[in-house]
Amino acid sequence: MSTKRLYIKTFGCQMNVHDSERIGGLLRDEGYRLTEKPDEADMIIVNTCNIREKSEQKAYSDLGRFAMLKRDKPDLILGMAGCVAQKDGEKVLKRYKGLDLVFGSSNIENVPQMLQTITLNAQPVVMVLEPPGPPKTTPADRKDRVRAWVSIMEGCDRHCAFCVVPMTRGRERSRLSAEIVQEVSHLAEAGYKEITLLGQTVNSYGKSLEEGVDFADLLRMLNAVDGIERIRFMSPHPSDMNPKLIETMAELPKICEFLHLPLQSGSDAVLKRMGRGYTLNEYRPIVERLRRLVPDMAFSTDIIIGFPGETEDDFKKTLDAVAEFEYDNVYYFHYSQRPNTPAAQWEDQIPDEVKDARFARLSALEKALAREKNRRLIDTVQEVLVEGRSKRDRAKLTGRTRSNKLVHFEGDDREIGCLINVRITFASSTYLEGMRIEG
Ligand code: SAH
Ligand code: F3S
Repeated sequence: MSTKRLYIKTFGCQMNVHDSERIGGLLRDEGYRLTEKPDEADMIIVNTCNIREKSEQKAYSDLGRFAMLKRDKPDLILGMAGCVAQKDGEKVLKRYKGLDLVFGSSNIENVPQMLQTITLNAQPVVMVLEPPGPPKTTPADRKDRVRAWVSIMEGCDRHCAFCVVPMTRGRERSRLSAEIVQEVSHLAEAGYKEITLLGQTVNSYGKSLEEGVDFADLLRMLNAVDGIERIRFMSPHPSDMNPKLIETMAELPKICEFLHLPLQSGSDAVLKRMGRGYTLNEYRPIVERLRRLVPDMAFSTDIIIGFPGETEDDFKKTLDAVAEFEYDNVYYFHYSQRPNTPAAQWEDQIPDEVKDARFARLSALEKALAREKNRRLIDTVQEVLVEGRSKRDRAKLTGRTRSNKLVHFEGDDREIGCLINVRITFASSTYLEGMRIEG
């Protein structure tokens, strides 16, 4: 089989990045190898995101640019994947005449079959229907050799009033636990040390299956895989952080002391209108229990600024909550009106200037908190999983602590992929520096 070149442009979250690895893995089996250069590609796939308006616009403008390449190279196969593809389906074909392939994230497993159809019929193919049954295991062409993403479920059965995901990724569907364990065992054999389990509400894993295995059970199964040293997951929903899961996290040695727990707002009134399904008083004990059982636990969160009807008082409650929970990291977003979501139609939309001003206040608080949290680590010894050379200083190695903090320190290439103990000597709001401990 002759080698063909594949260029994938990815927008959006880790889930999308990993979806691109899976598309790459399946197409590798069809004779395609990844390239960084779109102009030398035989196939280009734009893997899109539409969580906020900006990402959708960028995806469309890239697609337009790549469609021009077809003028000089009529055999180029051009595809659109991901959430915009799922949402717009056939409509995309009308907008871009040169497009050959449009598919949603739940149809990634069908990529080889779609490719065959295009080659045989020379007709564009659109596939945006969820296949029945649990998602199938697919190969993945992973860039990283130390840390791997593993998708354990797709879709989301919740309906937050701001969120487009249930429309673009469909109903919640979990993979079979035995297939996940097998994939992780293969990763361990290939030398991977860390896995991050991915799902939109990752801790509701198993609900769509009849296996009787829940997320805590799955963590226990994966903790037993030899060779894997660290387990992370993204993103849990607060309503599914049950006591069994909290205790399991505290008990299992490989589960990292880090939790990304989206809060979205610190105001109960806003949480209610968002349809998040919890109040601040229900969120708080999760953080408190985990901190009690795992004293070094680090937390990060997502906050939406300027959700329709958000008052100054609501926003102050968000600032108070962020300060109270002492997050190590906060990801905050301007609320973006997404088509066909309930909140987009509400009249009490917040003006951009108000969103901007609130954004700046949260940003200042977030940076101060992160700096303070990082400073507390000075003089402590942290276990770092070394990822590679630091981009800002080639003399240094870079890696992460179990609590997910970036650390730079001087070291040898042979240490890449190893767990090294590092004494922290310097802390900024975004990274740490340190010195390896001999022996
Ligand atoms: N279940 C996923 C949600 C994916 S979206 C998770 O819990 O991570 C990731 C984040 O994007 C959300 O947590 C939310 O903070 C933000 N987001 C989603 N829809 C948004 C919108 N319409 N406007 C602004 N931010 C949004
Ligand atoms: Fe979106 Fe809420 Fe699900 S944020 S992904 S609808 S839990």
